[in-house]
Amino acid sequence: MNVTVTGAAGQIGYALLFRIASGQLLGAQTPVRLKLLEIPQGVKAAEGVALELEDCAFPLLSGIDIFDDATAAFDGANVALLVGARPRTAGMERGDLLSANGGIFKPQGEAINAGAAEDIKVLVVGNPANTNALIAASHAPDVPTSRFTAMTRLDHNRALTQLATKAGASVTDIQRLAIWGNHSATQYPDITHATIGGRPATEVVDDQAWVEGEFIPRVAKRGAEIIAARGASSAASAANAAVDHVHSWVNGTPEGDWTSAAIVSDGSYGVPEGLISSFPVTSSGGEWHIVPDLEIDEFSRGRIDASVAELGEERDAVRSLGLL
Ligand code: NAI
Repeated sequence: MNVTVTGAAGQIGYALLFRIASGQLLGAQTPVRLKLLEIPQGVKAAEGVALELEDCAFPLLSGIDIFDDATAAFDGANVALLVGARPRTAGMERGDLLSANGGIFKPQGEAINAGAAEDIKVLVVGNPANTNALIAASHAPDVPTSRFTAMTRLDHNRALTQLATKAGASVTDIQRLAIWGNHSATQYPDITHATIGGRPATEVVDDQAWVEGEFIPRVAKRGAEIIAARGASSAASAANAAVDHVHSWVNGTPEGDWTSAAIVSDGSYGVPEGLISSFPVTSSGGEWHIVPDLEIDEFSRGRIDASVAELGEERDAVRSLGLL
């Protein structure tokens, strides 16, 4: 399997590539050829990472190629992890940020369209992830939009641990947690369908003030908490979530449970068709499915609508920039 990773010389790349090469992404039976994409200034550092990958003597790693050209990097790709993105710098307006990222994700979408393998699966990690995925998908007309996803698995994993800690339970006791909307501070981590040890999480926790005042803001702002503590953004946990996302996509989700991923909306739950929004999802046969028929209470409705409205604004902004 050819796995293309963009931003390969960055922080997340450094945490991610070794896990892919060790077999944790696709399983211990699947040899992997890594295709690393960097901007020209990043190529030397990517070559350094490749030297270290060689020194691990991973049995499943069948080769490493390094590119500064998207068309070559995505040629034959079965899985593409789009990590490299333009970060927001001080004083940067949202329009500038979206425009800079459009300059990255438009040509990458075109390159995926031109040469990726038939079964291509794309995960966008680079922020603003949902809208970057939308831009890439809209420039790959021959690839089903369902193959373009954005990462909210890190938010999901963060929520799992916060809820488990509150309940004095293990993360493995929790099922059916969901992240809705945008991978941003407006996201909605939803425990209303979750169970802990088979009991409704809302009953076990029985503390709506904690849900609204601590749980939701802590999950949504966890990235900032990590930057404040570590002096650098979350990289290992982001890489871990990327591995989890692709692993679930390829291998399926367990019976009776679901996970969270930002996938193209079919109009479910009032999310406008075509937006790439986080939903509770299951995976089977290499396809994501939005969990159907959940009852959405009034509080959840307000939170989902607010985050989805933000996604709509981002879409309108990139559309007005001519990026869709
Ligand atoms: P970083 O700055 O350490 O690395 C980014 C790398 O991307 C750099 O090496 C840069 O040269 C490269 N790059 C930039 N433009 C490129 C292009 N057009 N093609 C190929 N490579 C390119 O950043 P880090 O920490 O690795 O984070 C990467 C992205 O992931 C950021 O946008 C960050 O906001 C996002 N992120 C997303 C999370 C999520 O849950 N969805 C969680 C954490 C980070």
